[in-house]
Amino acid sequence: MGSSITVRHLVAGTLGAALLRNWYRDGDVNEQRRRELVDVLAGDPDDLLDIVLDPTERDLLSGYAQWSEHYDGHNPLIAVEEQVTIPILDRLVHADVRALDAGCGTGRNAALLAERGAEVIGFDQSAEMLAIAQAKVPSGRFDLAEFAALPYPDEHIDVIVSSLAVCHLPDPTIALGEFRRVIRPGGTVVVADPHPDARALGGQAFFGFRLGEPLPWVRNHFHPASTWLRACRDVGFGVVDCVEVPYREVQHASHPAFGRYPDAVRAATGDLHGLWVWTFRRD
Ligand SMILES: C[S@@+](CC[C@H](N)C(=O)[O-])C[C@H]1O[C@@H](n2cnc3c(N)ncnc32)[C@H](O)[C@@H]1O
Repeated sequence: MGSSITVRHLVAGTLGAALLRNWYRDGDVNEQRRRELVDVLAGDPDDLLDIVLDPTERDLLSGYAQWSEHYDGHNPLIAVEEQVTIPILDRLVHADVRALDAGCGTGRNAALLAERGAEVIGFDQSAEMLAIAQAKVPSGRFDLAEFAALPYPDEHIDVIVSSLAVCHLPDPTIALGEFRRVIRPGGTVVVADPHPDARALGGQAFFGFRLGEPLPWVRNHFHPASTWLRACRDVGFGVVDCVEVPYREVQHASHPAFGRYPDAVRAATGDLHGLWVWTFRRD
């Protein structure tokens, strides 16, 4: 197997997680996991298992510059996230609302906000992602900016939505502080982020795999509930809701092990959460 990290290691780890998370429960199922592990670790040449991954971290700027080229392709995490966030946006966003897509990337949420008649503002640290957002939502205003210093006046925004972006900050408190400053009294903030459970399965932001090249990824920080609650207390937000979203079949199906070992993939992620969606309000 050499010293590279291959699909074989990823699959073996997933089978191991499935076994570990259930070892005390059902002998027959665990015997199946054991046989699968022996099979994978046997080392027989295999076109899928021997694909080299060699994950390599990229910084946020160069990572998103590269990811922007195909960011808008199929993303199972986003498919699941939208099942939760779209109904929330349906309730909050309408004409007469000035809405901010924070860490807007290629403008996925900005487009949803525009479809609902809102005046749309978006910001992101990546010029490449922003250019796509601007083309997608020509009526929107898009700014090259950081969560730590938003280029908007106090109490300027009615609704803020931020998906899968605050997770890139080591501490969400700075972002929430700026959200608190720019949102009007009574305004609502919706933040969708990877759930801390996802860390148990190596849930970083992988993108753009090309055969023969290292698999690039950018770092997610998994902020625990205590951090969010403390940040809200410190900056002055009330927590309206927190929806914890379990892994769904569309996410299982995208796992490299799923084709051969679907039950193991389900057992590895079963009853864990892939993301959560927080709703905060400024009174
Ligand atoms: C996974 S993408 C999410 C994009 C979009 N919100 C969506 O859900 O499709 C994360 C985005 O956060 C942006 N980002 C990360 N750190 C940032 C920071 N400190 N300030 C502004 N944007 C940031 C990245 O450039 C990237 O476009």
